[in-house]
Amino acid sequence: MFATAPDRSAAKEELYRNLAASLEELLRGETDALANLANAAGLVNAALDRVNWCGFYLKKAEELVLGPFQGKPACVRIPIGKGVCGTAAARRETVVVPDVNAFPGHIACDAASRSEIVVPIFSDGELVGVLDVDAPEPSRFDEQDRAGLERFVKTLERRIEWTALSGKR
Ligand code: SME
Repeated sequence: MFATAPDRSAAKEELYRNLAASLEELLRGETDALANLANAAGLVNAALDRVNWCGFYLKKAEELVLGPFQGKPACVRIPIGKGVCGTAAARRETVVVPDVNAFPGHIACDAASRSEIVVPIFSDGELVGVLDVDAPEPSRFDEQDRAGLERFVKTLERRIEWTALSGKR
């Protein structure tokens, strides 16, 4: 008998393949940046299970400011370098946090959050924001989630008109 892990892994790969295709479909023919980001947050929320918050923070001056999201109301401003979001922005790389209580400086917006992944977003090499996904259970996000969400963000980087959103002119 096979262990169950390969099946779960194949299912996750398919999930993220479908998510990428759905995003392309959703953005086709629409150029409004805010509407597209709002739908992208809705898509992540609909596609991923065991998630209690997902959405965007957009870089404005030296802060990240809350953008379109799904979930409970969240903190509006996060300085670059602070919290998980600000750390991913400062490091310019994805941060996966298996246990938010063990992450120094974690900013608790939704008390239900136990683990978190933050993927930075770039336009022409400049940081324009982050995608943040929170889960109500520890260790929710693995390497497949990282790869899948990074792929999702790559599509957004190509398809969103970031200058209309980030204060970048
Ligand atoms: N936990 C994040 C703050 C944003 S909320 O999770 C929506 C952080 O530490 O940056």
